Amino acid sequence: MPSASDERILLNPEVLRDSHLPDYIFSRENEVQEILNCLSPVLKKRRPMHVWLHGPVGTGKTLLARHILERFKQQHDISGAYINCWERRTYFEVLDSLITQLRILRAEQQRTNLKLEKLRKFLGTSPFLLVLDEVDHAVPRERNALLYGLSTIPNIGVIYISSGLSTLSTLEQRVRSRINPMAIRLEPYKPDELVLMLKDRAERALKQSSWNVIILQRIADLAQGDARLALQTLRNAADLAELDVSATITHRHVRRGWHNATDIERNHLLQNLTEDHRILYRLIKREGELLSGELWKLYLRTCRKLGRKPVAVRTFSDYANELKHTGLIHVERARVKGRVRVFKTID
Ligand SMILES: Nc1ncnc2c1ncn2[C@@H]1O[C@H](COP(=O)(O)OP(=O)(O)OP(=O)(O)O)[C@@H](O)[C@H]1O
Ligand SMILES: [Mg+2]
Repeated sequence: MPSASDERILLNPEVLRDSHLPDYIFSRENEVQEILNCLSPVLKKRRPMHVWLHGPVGTGKTLLARHILERFKQQHDISGAYINCWERRTYFEVLDSLITQLRILRAEQQRTNLKLEKLRKFLGTSPFLLVLDEVDHAVPRERNALLYGLSTIPNIGVIYISSGLSTLSTLEQRVRSRINPMAIRLEPYKPDELVLMLKDRAERALKQSSWNVIILQRIADLAQGDARLALQTLRNAADLAELDVSATITHRHVRRGWHNATDIERNHLLQNLTEDHRILYRLIKREGELLSGELWKLYLRTCRKLGRKPVAVRTFSDYANELKHTGLIHVERARVKGRVRVFKTID
């Protein structure tokens, strides 16, 4: 009779977690080189080309930026920091996080300008690499001041990350010309690239006899270029196979694993947004399709019912755009005169 350990498929679950930093980055050699070429002048205290890294979900933006940050730290002893603007949305919070990460004393209580001054003094002319992830989620009215302020630090190289380029194009001209970044786009992975990535992880995470390349190909097809979705699907499928006490992962496990993974991804995205984003998303989901004016009216009505203060109409548009950039909804121009837009959820 097989023992419990024989029935285990997921031998090393860590390897399939989103937080796991893989030793090897697949299919992005050219992009890594391009980013290094842009930023390496900071090592010689020359002005680098900042990088604006963009692309759809799960294309490796965060992974590449973190990898380069580690490389600069370890190989060149360069200090650096990673900030997720979804977590730190204001100029003040970003500076606060930098000050904490760099352990700059007596700067915590200061106002924004004084914090920046302390930071500039602390770094002096030393090279510094900063990753500003999810920069499209920084509070819109503070983005110009934030990006301009940070660019005044001598010998700083910045990797800005966003899903698209609309945040860059809506910056004030003086900020855009000041930071003047090189835009590098990461395309969705092709199925065979995802298969290579999945194979490497499966070899390290799963029992050898539990999977085969055909299963991985099926996952790669379902993931549609999104590496996170592919890895999460593999993990879920392995979990489900274990629960079924099956010796192998089957197509049925993959299908169900993929469904769960898309739900997890959506909930994860929604959790990181504000309650007003969630109200808007739920309204679009409930109605299936809405014109922007209709969405606005329904939103106001819902806020009244809930006893909440609605956001201003400009913020409403920003939030709708954010839902679009995170890939939670589709936005189309309606076939009606004027700038009417249609919102739909993505299934
Ligand atoms: N080229 C790659 N080789 C190995 N693993 C990868 C590669 N690209 C992505 N991954 C893995 O896929 C997952 C998603 O990657 P990452 O978080 O970098 O995507 P992203 O583009 O930042 O997505 P989002 O837009 O949702 O923030 C991570 O677990 C990462 O380790
Ligand atoms: Mg990311």
